[in-house]
Amino acid sequence: MVTRFKAGGPLGADARGFYDEHGFLILDGFASAAERSALLDRIDALVDGFETPHSRTVFGEHAGDRYFLESGDKVRFFFEQDAGGRPLRQALNKIGHALHDLDPVFDTFFHSGRFRQLARDLRLNAPRLLQSMVIFKQPGIGGAVNWHQDATFLRTEPESVTGFWIALEDATLENGCLQAIPGGHRGPLRQWFGRGEAAMLETRTLDDRPFEDADATPLEAEAGALIVLHGRAPHMSRRNLSAKSRCAVTLHVIDGEAAYPADNWLQRPADMPLRGF
Ligand code: FE2
Repeated sequence: MVTRFKAGGPLGADARGFYDEHGFLILDGFASAAERSALLDRIDALVDGFETPHSRTVFGEHAGDRYFLESGDKVRFFFEQDAGGRPLRQALNKIGHALHDLDPVFDTFFHSGRFRQLARDLRLNAPRLLQSMVIFKQPGIGGAVNWHQDATFLRTEPESVTGFWIALEDATLENGCLQAIPGGHRGPLRQWFGRGEAAMLETRTLDDRPFEDADATPLEAEAGALIVLHGRAPHMSRRNLSAKSRCAVTLHVIDGEAAYPADNWLQRPADMPLRGF
C-alpha cells in the first residue's frame, strides 16, 4: 500500500522514512492549480513556436541520436512513435532537456523555494539541476516506458541522481501512471547507458536480473502531486490507450560535488554550467 503525504512545510520523519524504505515518495498538492495552468499554457506556447521539421525524431530511435545527444543544453521536441499525421500538440512524446535553464516559466517553477527545501529535506548534497522534460503521454498513443533506473541514464560517481516528477494532469492506471517496485532502489543498477565508441549511444548490461511486472506498484497521482524517485528506483509506465491526456514535467538533480563522467549522454557546454535551486 502506498502512503501518500501532503506537500507544504518541511518533510516529516514519516515521509523521509517512507522514502528511504521504498525509494519513492508521493507528495500531494505540491504544484498549485495556477502553477499547473501556467506550465500547461507555456507548453502550448512552446509547441506553437516550434517549426515542424521535415523529419520527426521519435524518442529513443537511433536515427535521432544526434538531435537527442545535443539536446542537453537545448529545448528540443521528440515525437511519439505512433503519431502518424496528428497535429503537433497531439503528436509529441517529450520536450527536453534544459527547460529549467532556457525557459523563464520552467526556470521560475523549478527554482522555487519549495524545491530547494525538498532537496534539503531529502538531504541531497549540493543539488544541481541537470535535466528537465515535459512528458506528454498522449491519449490513445502515449507509448509505454520500459522498466529502468534513472541512474542508468544520468551517471555520477558516486551515484546521486534523484528525480522529481510532477503531474500536470491526473495520472491513473487507466492513462499510464508511473509504476515502481517498493524497495527496488536497494538492488543493483541493471544497466549502463552512455556514449561508447565514436560517441555512439550504447546500453550495457551490468546485472541481468529482470524487473518483474508482478512486483510493480502503481503510483497514481492527482494533478499537482509530486513524486520523488530515487535514482535506483526501478520504474515504468504502460501505454496510454485511454482518451485522457497524462502530461507531467520532470526534473533530475545530481550532486554537484560528484564526478560527472564525459561519457554521459547529456553534456553541457562549459559556458552553461549547472545551477542549484
Ligand atoms: Fe525514469
